[in-house]
Amino acid sequence: MNNYNNINVYKKDFYFHIEINRPKQLNALNQATIKEIGSCLNAFEKNNKGYFAIIISGSGEKSFVAGADITEFTQVNKKNSKKFCKKGHELYNKIENMSVPVIALVNGYALGGGCELAMACHLRIATKNATFSQPEVNLGLIPGYGGTQRLIQIIGKTKGLELMLSTEMISSSIALDLGLVNYVLEDKKQAMDKALELINIFKRKSPIAIKNVIKSVNSFYDNDVNGFDKEIELFSECCDTNDFKEGALAFIEKRCPNFKGD
Ligand code: CAA
Repeated sequence: MNNYNNINVYKKDFYFHIEINRPKQLNALNQATIKEIGSCLNAFEKNNKGYFAIIISGSGEKSFVAGADITEFTQVNKKNSKKFCKKGHELYNKIENMSVPVIALVNGYALGGGCELAMACHLRIATKNATFSQPEVNLGLIPGYGGTQRLIQIIGKTKGLELMLSTEMISSSIALDLGLVNYVLEDKKQAMDKALELINIFKRKSPIAIKNVIKSVNSFYDNDVNGFDKEIELFSECCDTNDFKEGALAFIEKRCPNFKGD
């Protein structure tokens, strides 16, 4: 399944795999790639029955995503820069608000917009050779795809600010210590195995409950929403599902639940 020029989309048994495929540019994100990932996610949300997760990775061994495509920066000016920035924000917000867990499988460089992409995903599984940096101040810029917000949400202001101000490139083991990634595995194959292990866990849970956990957690970061109120609302929504009835019944009958997602 692939009608795209910059990404490969693999529709597997229980999950989608989006592979950013610009290895010669170290998978740098140009505008066309951003658009294609967005279209793919829209298609997923329209027809996601039976799919329990999305994996996002970069092709090749060297890079997840080496940032926004710097060659396109020559066309960015005061007039169109907000639009440029917003396109990235729209995609990354979409990822963060997907109804299933999105896992970034990070091998090699995760720089600038690449680190920001990984942070927009719900979980990050890195390989040993992964490196992370927000190098934008080297280009006279600031992180523009949500990095100033998500990095401090994920690892805190103290180290987050230091990384953005210094542009230091950190190893996967430091990223693990900082809580920037969930796991570090030896290589891409092992990282994929770990992702599949997690997806196998997710697929046994209620899809509605999984979706509502993501929604409720995200509401913590929405200034217009009270997260505790949101939790009450979403808990109540779950109580009105067959999945809830099945979950409670399965417990009482001492068997595994068979969730249908309704
Ligand atoms: N945009 C466009 N092309 C890129 C790129 C990027 N972000 N990163 C790498 N490339 C290209 C290089 O230009 C090179 O192309 P050519 O072969 O045609 O010369 C190719 O990928 C391979 O790169 P290198 O030869 O530089 O490989 P290296 O191993 O020596 O260095 C690197 C790798 C350290 C990642 C280096 O390429 C680099 O510093 N890249 C830029 C990283 C960066 O600054 N990213 C942030 C972008 S700004 C951003 O993302 C803003 C935002 O928040 C949205």
